[in-house]
Amino acid sequence: MLRSHRMPKKTQSLLGQIDRAALPVHIAIIMDGNGRWARKRGLPRVAGHRAGINAVREVVEGSAELGVSVLTLYAFSVENWKRPQSEVRMLMKLLKEYLHKEIEAIHGNNIQFRTIGRIDELDSSVQIEIEKAIARTSQNTGMIFNVALNYGGRAEIVDAVNRLLRNGGPTAFQAGGVTEKDFAAYLYTAGLPDPDLLIRTSGELRISNFLLWQIAYAEIWVTETLWPDFGKQHLYDAIIAFQKRERRYGGLSPRLVRTGTK
Ligand code: IPE
Ligand code: IPE
Ligand code: MG
Repeated sequence: MLRSHRMPKKTQSLLGQIDRAALPVHIAIIMDGNGRWARKRGLPRVAGHRAGINAVREVVEGSAELGVSVLTLYAFSVENWKRPQSEVRMLMKLLKEYLHKEIEAIHGNNIQFRTIGRIDELDSSVQIEIEKAIARTSQNTGMIFNVALNYGGRAEIVDAVNRLLRNGGPTAFQAGGVTEKDFAAYLYTAGLPDPDLLIRTSGELRISNFLLWQIAYAEIWVTETLWPDFGKQHLYDAIIAFQKRERRYGGLSPRLVRTGTK
């Protein structure tokens, strides 16, 4: 349900500019800037991660209300293990807390919770909370809320290759090799459409090993806003910008084709 009456005027006006018939089907977000948000306030980094949970709530709710089919959030990369152990421990604790507290609200909104990444390498207490959340929401038919955890784009591709090799790789090879479609079915995102819109907060112009295969033709939108400050208005801003883009997929603009430009 769209609770537009509770929204600030500016957010409401942005919402009015969105064409509901041309929404990105899959939005992926690199949530970045929690540490900088905390540093600006003289707080420990973990305070930034904690504040980032509000932004997660906003985008999950905002995307589901609009009718987006899939939302993927990058929460922890395979490279993030390089951080101090205390920060990693706090991030895992926050994730467990978030799932524990929010799963009923997520379920109540008919959202299906999923994860991508090497979940089996996470602490078993984290795995238990994830399994509970997946099981609780598995029958839901609304938005798919996908969290990338212990995720790496290269790790995903390597995992897909190894799975393919185990599942009759040589047979597939003798039969003429695999197609892009066959290969995509071995990725963590099997069955999901590729992201149409990739958002990164806090200004960094890089991909940081996120969904390398899937973002081949995603439209990229970067904001200076730090993740804990991100809200529905920023999500709407990104979607409005997305809807102004012309996606050509290597072809020609329909405008050019019509006028016969060579
Ligand atoms: C994003 O914020 C959260 C994770 C990567 C887990 P950061 O912790 O990367 O924040 P900055 O980049 O240091 O500001
Ligand atoms: C990307 O953010 C990973 C996640 C959002 C989980 P990082 O802060 O880890 O990325 P880099 O180090 O700036 O590339
Ligand atoms: Mg960062």
